[in-house]
Amino acid sequence: MIRLPINRTVVSALFASVAAAAIILAPVVSADNAEEIPGPAVVDDGADYVGYNQCQVCHSHQNQVWREMGHARALDRLQTAESIAIAEEMGLENPPAESPECLNCHVTAYDVETRTTPTPIDLADGVQCESCHGPSSEHIVIGRQVMFGQAEEDEVDIMAGRGWPGESNCRECHNPDSPTWRDDRYTLEDGTTTGFDFEQALELIDHSEPEDE
Ligand code: HEC
Ligand code: HEC
Ligand code: HEC
Ligand code: HEC
Repeated sequence: MIRLPINRTVVSALFASVAAAAIILAPVVSADNAEEIPGPAVVDDGADYVGYNQCQVCHSHQNQVWREMGHARALDRLQTAESIAIAEEMGLENPPAESPECLNCHVTAYDVETRTTPTPIDLADGVQCESCHGPSSEHIVIGRQVMFGQAEEDEVDIMAGRGWPGESNCRECHNPDSPTWRDDRYTLEDGTTTGFDFEQALELIDHSEPEDE
């Protein structure tokens, strides 16, 4: 379970509602407690989306696991006969892989205007790291400083204003607005079913660093 100390919850709520405040509050959220921050991962701290390609040099294990996830192939999914049939039934004008009604949840940062993104987001890469971890251009700059010994990890805000992805982040897409939403997708311990169970889903996408590395 993710712990929710009350002050962190307040900080997180501020993050979600006042984008500008994130700039002021960012230093308050120090790296050491970063994993306790729940809530929406996407915080506008001036960072841009850079794409998963930019992550693999420092997080190769996470990249490898992600590539095996459905998330990485979420755009391909929109090109299947099943998807085309759904779109036709909904009366969409364009094929699903070109329809905002589907792309919203099946790719990263679909409706986000990027600023100075060095590597534009490729829709073919589906639901990428930054759909959950938030735009990471700032984090990469800080990450490099740590890698090159120019800063200690505990001296810098490695999260760079991003929140830690929590249940509400998942539910931005895992919700009944999805045309294939099913109330019985997950079975709970007591035998009842639900459309999304955070704990089971988290296990299915587990990409934490292996212990022996
Ligand atoms: C130049 C190196 C570098 C790059 C590139 C990089 N990171 Fe990191 N990242 C780090 C370092 C260093 C840490 C802190 C140590 C650790 O947790 O591995 C870190 C930690 C993290 C954490 C965990 C934070 C925590 O508090 O444990 C996440 C999540 C993360 N990075 C996501 C990303 C994503 C997403 C990308 C690509 C958009 C990315 N990183 C690119 C260096 C990098
Ligand atoms: C940007 C939208 C989006 C977000 C945010 C998101 N998902 Fe998904 N997720 C999808 C889509 C779309 C699929 C279907 C992919 C496919 O076509 O198979 C999916 C599939 C899955 C699956 C099915 C297993 C698999 O690998 O295919 C699991 C489990 C899952 N997501 C867990 C999560 C969890 C846990 C979170 C939050 C930490 C999360 N998702 C956040 C869009 C999202
Ligand atoms: C609100 C977000 C959302 C929207 C909008 C959305 N999807 Fe999805 N889609 C998902 C998620 C999340 C999954 C993964 C299944 C799950 O865990 O609910 C998924 C899975 C799928 C699947 C795999 C079957 C399944 O249910 O596992 C198909 C096919 C699909 N979507 C087609 C579409 C099409 C076509 C559109 C547009 C008409 C669309 N989706 C719009 C979130 C969305
Ligand atoms: C569907 C959402 C989602 C996607 C996509 C995703 N992550 Fe994560 N990531 C999470 C969540 C949630 C956690 C925290 C897991 C936990 O608390 O157990 C996490 C944890 C991490 C960590 C910390 C691992 C540790 O050992 O503590 C790193 C680093 C990371 N992710 C990097 C990445 C990179 C790089 C990508 C893309 C290649 C990526 N993530 C894709 C949701 C996601």
